[in-house]
Amino acid sequence: MTELLQAPATTRDGAWRGAAEVLIGNWTGTSTVPSRSLYPHQWSWDSAFLAIGWRHLSPRRAQRELESLLGAQWGDGRVPHIVFNPSVPLGAYFPSPDFWRSSAAGAGRGAPATVETSGIVQPPVHALAALLVHEADPEISRRRGFLTRLYPRLARWHDYLARRRDLGRGGLAAVVHPWEPGMDNSPCWDGPLARIEPAEPGTFRRADLDHGAATDRPTDLDYGRYVRLAAEYRDAGYDDAAAPHGFAVEDPNFNALFIASEYALAEIAAEVGAAPAGHLARAERLTRALLDRLWDAEAGVFRCRDLHAGGDGLIPETSVAGLVPLIVPGLPGPVVDALLRTLTGPHFALGDRTGLAPSYDLRGHAFDPSRYWRGPAWFNINWLIERGLRLQGVPERADALRSAFLRSAAGSGYAEYVDPLTGEPRGARRFGWTAALTLDLLGSVSPTFAGPRRLARHLAARPHRPSTSSTRAIRAHADAPSPKLSAPLEQGGTPSTPRPDPQRSERHPLAAGEEPR
Ligand code: SER
Repeated sequence: MTELLQAPATTRDGAWRGAAEVLIGNWTGTSTVPSRSLYPHQWSWDSAFLAIGWRHLSPRRAQRELESLLGAQWGDGRVPHIVFNPSVPLGAYFPSPDFWRSSAAGAGRGAPATVETSGIVQPPVHALAALLVHEADPEISRRRGFLTRLYPRLARWHDYLARRRDLGRGGLAAVVHPWEPGMDNSPCWDGPLARIEPAEPGTFRRADLDHGAATDRPTDLDYGRYVRLAAEYRDAGYDDAAAPHGFAVEDPNFNALFIASEYALAEIAAEVGAAPAGHLARAERLTRALLDRLWDAEAGVFRCRDLHAGGDGLIPETSVAGLVPLIVPGLPGPVVDALLRTLTGPHFALGDRTGLAPSYDLRGHAFDPSRYWRGPAWFNINWLIERGLRLQGVPERADALRSAFLRSAAGSGYAEYVDPLTGEPRGARRFGWTAALTLDLLGSVSPTFAGPRRLARHLAARPHRPSTSSTRAIRAHADAPSPKLSAPLEQGGTPSTPRPDPQRSERHPLAAGEEPR
């Protein structure tokens, strides 16, 4: 595989081969680790982004990625944010399975008996990913019954969020731990977390600092609070009705992804012969609630809402989470215009001081260009913004962001995140979703807006067709049988039996070997 790294990463083929090599290197047999060192298990929203990348390389692996995650779904519908690999030593990651104790503590909520998971969730990108994976190769998808098997699980996942997580009773899903919105140490959480008594410093050992620079990571005080909140949820049996939920926030990134995925679920329903109407109606209700509850017209950005604060609860921090609703179809024109002004204005300076949108306000009091979600630019969020810019009819700006993304991803060694002002790589390298979304943007085209219900068409990307013979080596490697392959949907104990894998389709995107665009 080293030959794959020899092409310069700055060419399109070099970027494609480098990204493919990262995905192949991070593949475990049933799923893909975000990072071999820092994150050695399967993460929920990572898996969705990883599948979106894998579809360009191996639609079959893309399907397995999502199947193995949803195989660990709980009986109450939640999709856990981590599915633990039992062959990884306990000390390799904290909090480990013996902290979460899902099969015991979560038994009342239907946690799987045969696999250990965390008990919290992450943003629901999965239905969107499933639709995009299906569209990469509908023939193999239909032959394997991919969407037919996934649809009931995705529908239960969304029902869990709508029914169990509407803690504010305003029609949005709330998150109950800073790990749930995926932006662990965003300055948005500083206020809500200030009420949480941190766990005693000597009662846990962070494994992340074995692999990453402390200046790139959350602080020990943050971790003390993360541990306290997770332990309280666990000790309440992960029961949303009984847990104290000392942290309860409505997040625009989480809910925008919920809306995008609900539209995707409507398309999946139509594909498998179920009724799409309920999904479309929910997507529209969620959109109204997002506008009613989180839009700050004066600031021109969506805010997070602290459900325990007085007043309107809107958190006065400007986070990139508040720009991700660009992916929501049907937003009022003035809202889109204001979001675009905020994105390109002094707080995010896209196309001016920054090539990729930072995770937090450049002018914010807590801005730190190195520390995780307090300033660095992240590739999954910039992929979403790029897709959103196309959806909202701003293709020139999307093209510029796409170019900056590809340069930065390949040039940083597929870093987890980068300094938004200098482009210096931060966090882990050879990071899964950075590589996956590189593949996706290399394959993407500029779609034409055609209406909210065709959201997935706009988010879909055409496969990239690299020119060199080494792509055949990549393809052969990706599709070689793995000794660890198992029936992924059986992991959780209740699903239907997957069909045997057919041979890959003749129509695989890499088969033609055409020139890259
Ligand atoms: N992002 C968290 C971590 O750093 C957990 O999901 O481990």
